[in-house]
Amino acid sequence: MRHLLDIKDLSRKEIETILKRAMWYKSLKVYSKTLEGKFVLTAFFEPSTRTKVSFQKAAMNLGARVIDFAPESSSLLKGETDLDTIMTLNMMDFDCLVVRIRRNGAPKEFAKYVDMPVVNAGDGTNEHPTQALLDAMTMLEHFKTLELKVAIVGDIVHSRVARSLTEILNKFGAEVRMVGPKGFVPESFEGVSLITNDLEEAIHDVDVVYALRIQKERLEESYPNVDDFFRTMQINSKTIELAPKHAILMHPGPFNRNVEVSDDVVYSERSRILEQVKNGVFVRMAVLEYAMGVIEVESVRSMETSLVER
Ligand code: NCD
Repeated sequence: MRHLLDIKDLSRKEIETILKRAMWYKSLKVYSKTLEGKFVLTAFFEPSTRTKVSFQKAAMNLGARVIDFAPESSSLLKGETDLDTIMTLNMMDFDCLVVRIRRNGAPKEFAKYVDMPVVNAGDGTNEHPTQALLDAMTMLEHFKTLELKVAIVGDIVHSRVARSLTEILNKFGAEVRMVGPKGFVPESFEGVSLITNDLEEAIHDVDVVYALRIQKERLEESYPNVDDFFRTMQINSKTIELAPKHAILMHPGPFNRNVEVSDDVVYSERSRILEQVKNGVFVRMAVLEYAMGVIEVESVRSMETSLVER
């Protein structure tokens, strides 16, 4: 049993193993039931569409059964704490907990109290490791390497996606930049080569423009007309031209249509946004197997040769 709490703690080999397995699953039509007999518990204390459903689908693709804990109709409403809730559910004999929660570090805390592997499906502004894995898979499929220039655009200070993505890209030799409106980019960030408010400076020579949603639910100060303010960094048919022709557009979703990305680029030829969603299921199949000990970290050949071959 292995927890998957953040990208930081994963070795390059572990990441390669997961990505290789996910790509292999993508090439198959039927899957063997490697998780038959297992019970997966999904507990999403924060809203989710793609992450939750893709974890559930991934588990079911491999023969596991899934129970979804619904916070909004649970004893949390009677004042039970999230830790007491998790400790209670732990006694019901599950094989894996997939958890999303607003409190930074909570999945790590839960891991100390439960007898099953914990998979972090996003904690506050901290990490979102499976998003980074599916993003890396999407970039690898397109470019056959992760030695890329990637600009993360938008609300970075409130983003767990930015942290996990930077971690994974750094491990594989990518150059990461951050650009966003004033107040939405950090002063400094480990492993980032450029932090700026100038979109052109950040994206003029990149391979990937990675847009982020403005995290209104995490804003501490109230901005008058925050959408308008944020539009100064909008990726649209005009601003995407600041990037080279070969550059692709990514976004973890959900997006605020016509705020950080416009209608005319969101599903354009350069966009990989729907492919990211598709890859999410395969990555989570591999992650669940990794957590429950079905796949072992093999000694894979160098990424260049091993990962891109089917
Ligand atoms: C992200 C999240 O929840 O961290 N979405 C996702 O999981 N695909 C990003 C976001 O909510 O903006």
